[in-house]
Amino acid sequence: MPKRTGPLEMRLWGDPALRRPCRPVAAIDDALRRLALDMLETMYNANGVGLAAPQVGRDERLCVIDVPADAEKEEYVEANAAIPMPLVLVNPEILAREGEQTDEEGCLSFPSIHAPVTRADKVSFTFLDQHGERRTYTAHGLLARAVQHELEHLEGHVFIDNLPDKTPIAQKLDKLEAKTKRRLGL
Ligand code: NI
Repeated sequence: MPKRTGPLEMRLWGDPALRRPCRPVAAIDDALRRLALDMLETMYNANGVGLAAPQVGRDERLCVIDVPADAEKEEYVEANAAIPMPLVLVNPEILAREGEQTDEEGCLSFPSIHAPVTRADKVSFTFLDQHGERRTYTAHGLLARAVQHELEHLEGHVFIDNLPDKTPIAQKLDKLEAKTKRRLGL
């Protein structure tokens, strides 16, 4: 395995990188594996359960997920146990969605901003792992939520796009966006 180079800079709301759709990964090589390791380190450092390439300013269709069993809803721990963590997802796609769940959601690119988001309760998804092997799983609960959240990032979408009403967090969003843009000179 390539050596990790350390945590990457987290892109925050207001950074145009979060709105850029990603391009499919053509080759799974050491550079991509290093990026995945760095993204995992960045995610763990920030106590997150998922991180997508745009959040570190990259445009590969790549995200990482690690939902620990003790963070999962009890009824889903067993159902998700067959899915080994952490997940490195290259060119992931959702194949099927089922059911519905609504829960508070956040994002490492939106520090201290949370809102209830309704998503599918169960998703089947397929991707290539860091060795280029095709994997297909069905996830439930928080893990299913994380998969949906991270894959959205790869389209240049973010979790607040799912909110029918952003009013309760509008002030925080505007403040963060303005601060980020000021820092970037935009
Ligand atoms: Ni996110």
